[in-house]
Amino acid sequence: ELLSSLKVNQSRLMEDIHYTCQWGTGQKWGKEETETGMSRLALSDADKEARDWFVQTTKALGCHTTVDSMGNIFAIRPGIRNDGPPTFVGSHLDTQPSGGRYDGILGVAAGVEMLKVLADNWVETEYPVGVVNWTNEEGARFPISIVSSGVWAGAIPQETAHNLREVHPGTATMASELARIGYLGETPASFNNMPMAAHFELHIEQGPLLEMANKKIGVVKGVQAYKWLTVNVKGRDTHTGTTDLKSRADALLAASKMVIHSHRLATANGCLASTGILNLKPGSTNTVPGEVSFSLDIRAQKDHTVARMLQHIENDFPKIAAGEDILNSNQDCTKGLPCSITINQDFDSPATLFHPDCIEAVSRAAHSVLGENSKNLLLEMTSGAGHDSVYTSKRCPTSMIFVPCREGVSHNPAEYCKPEDCTLGAQVLLQSVLRFDRM
Ligand code: GLV
Ligand code: MN
Ligand code: MN
Ligand code: MN
Repeated sequence: ELLSSLKVNQSRLMEDIHYTCQWGTGQKWGKEETETGMSRLALSDADKEARDWFVQTTKALGCHTTVDSMGNIFAIRPGIRNDGPPTFVGSHLDTQPSGGRYDGILGVAAGVEMLKVLADNWVETEYPVGVVNWTNEEGARFPISIVSSGVWAGAIPQETAHNLREVHPGTATMASELARIGYLGETPASFNNMPMAAHFELHIEQGPLLEMANKKIGVVKGVQAYKWLTVNVKGRDTHTGTTDLKSRADALLAASKMVIHSHRLATANGCLASTGILNLKPGSTNTVPGEVSFSLDIRAQKDHTVARMLQHIENDFPKIAAGEDILNSNQDCTKGLPCSITINQDFDSPATLFHPDCIEAVSRAAHSVLGENSKNLLLEMTSGAGHDSVYTSKRCPTSMIFVPCREGVSHNPAEYCKPEDCTLGAQVLLQSVLRFDRM
């Protein structure tokens, strides 16, 4: 039928991806650089330029495009009838400080490509369809990930989000940067103001499973749980040359033991624990660090595993700070003076199960796009990474489509997804929306 004959234009899709990557640190628009990385922190000047492109492009394609109070940008293409909410696709244009060109960007570019295919073919959908760019998905610059879809969903207070201070150098807030780049919209971010019939998100897998199994499309049924903590350890600044090992309250030594211990706990509990931010004071070669703070990102399939990890951490870290030999390292490592500790719970994302109707729409779309051999090319999976779809799923039927990325690598400039895989994913995305529109 007509709808399944609609085809994504691969070169146009890839060109949009790389075109938008002229806006980012140290990157130039040019074909020879199409496989290099991207650094575009949320609400930076580069992010503003990419946003301006998104607004101009979607408006030129006949969309009503609005910005909410979190800077989320919603482009809506009217349907035959407009008495119901749009079916949205979306993702994010911000990246990690040393990220790639596919994480997030693919999902937005595929949404724009969907609009272009619909326009080219004069397709009128039953209900409106939309494309959304969510703000600060990464949580790299402002340290809560998927924060703006969280505000939209009513799960994170807007004040909390607006007051988030940038990780580095730590002066600007989300609100001040939204205002500075002109993306502090007037409409309060809320599903009440911007309802969705459904939300579909195309994303690279960011893991190795599809590639290893020679699969082309991941039908994503949910997202694992995660929790972010900040641990602050206080010892005492003292001279490195005159303070013997017994007389030190070395905050970094204590923190190091905690990092190792979190890794042991994760191993024992079959889950993940990672430290990605570490700050030490005063930061001088000849002063024992008196204060250290570090991040801890805990991830597990089940909420109760995350809860158990938290219990262990809250029980064991203060003992490590106090000098108890939890790691069994004191025979060959001098015991120093005790440190104090605080543990803050910054952010929580419980395990998510996507909606059966959306999973079904994706699955059927994938079968029709992949053709005869589809059974062998499709994998049902759970996402290891968080996505804005976690929060949309709290307010509307949601699911995701994964495509393989090289060696499972992302959050790295080497991140790469083959053009034909980007295209397959975009094709499945388009067909999922059209199917859902008629369900
Ligand atoms: C979201 O980007 C995450 O941290 O998984
Ligand atoms: Mn992403
Ligand atoms: Mn990411
Ligand atoms: Mn992410």
